[in-house]
Amino acid sequence: MAAIALVTGASGGLGQALVRELRREGWTVALAGRSLERLQTAFGVEALCIEADVSTPEGARLAVESCQREAGLPTALAQCAGTTLLSPLHRTTAEMYRACVAANLDSAFFMLSAFVDALREARQPGAAVLVSSVVARIGVANHEAIAAAKAGVEGLTRSAAATYAPSRIRVNAVAPGIMDTPAVARIIGNEAGRAGAAKQYPLPGIGDPADLARLMAWLLSDKAGWITGQVWAMDGGFSSVRPLVK
Ligand SMILES: NC(=O)c1ccc[n+]([C@@H]2O[C@H](COP(=O)([O-])OP(=O)(O)OC[C@H]3O[C@@H](n4cnc5c(N)ncnc54)[C@H](OP(=O)(O)O)[C@@H]3O)[C@@H](O)[C@H]2O)c1
Repeated sequence: MAAIALVTGASGGLGQALVRELRREGWTVALAGRSLERLQTAFGVEALCIEADVSTPEGARLAVESCQREAGLPTALAQCAGTTLLSPLHRTTAEMYRACVAANLDSAFFMLSAFVDALREARQPGAAVLVSSVVARIGVANHEAIAAAKAGVEGLTRSAAATYAPSRIRVNAVAPGIMDTPAVARIIGNEAGRAGAAKQYPLPGIGDPADLARLMAWLLSDKAGWITGQVWAMDGGFSSVRPLVK
């Protein structure tokens, strides 16, 4: 029987790429999102779709329980639900900040918690991959709220990896630079915006969610069986390389 993976934010650009990659690798994949319609539009009515808002503890538990009931215990979690927010601190309202933290950090915290509880109850090993961002690693102007939320995701990754290593539950994260998904359509949706964004990176260009999906699928697989507590950057060198100034 195929192993079961639960993907949140499955209707999104990265989520869709990852679902395709995991299916190619032979996983049975359960898809979670806030809208059944969006999930079914992307994957068809036959797909195992779970309508749940994973930014709440109840929604996160519902996602894991529905997966267990419909398909079986998920031994892999890919937490793709999240947003981006381009807004300087002085223009970020309390509502914008709270929505950003809910979508990015609360969802990671509650999903990981529900996933770990189910694995521990079943005494099974497993692997989770969370999604951070380049802006958590290096100061990028006008990203204070999302940088704070994603830095929280990275701290969560390392602490949970330490707590659950004895239970053979691995927790890693990925930290992408800008990727071609609906989340950033407003920034790269026109030629000038796209070219401007691409120029920011030492390896010029825009990230492909399919590339990140391959890295995430690998981290969830047994091939990465001795890797935990790591944050893997995929950002064209943005967070670690200073481009030569000519
Ligand atoms: N694209 C980039 O440039 C970029 C860069 C760095 C990091 N990231 C991260 O990559 C991950 C995937 O994003 P993406 O680029 O694939 O964006 P996307 O296409 O907008 O997909 C994100 C998905 O997250 C779900 N979501 C949004 N807000 C949510 C909320 N409040 N609660 C629960 N779910 C919510 C949405 O699904 P439903 O509405 O169907 O629930 C949406 O389909 C996110 O964590 C994002 O922060 C993206």
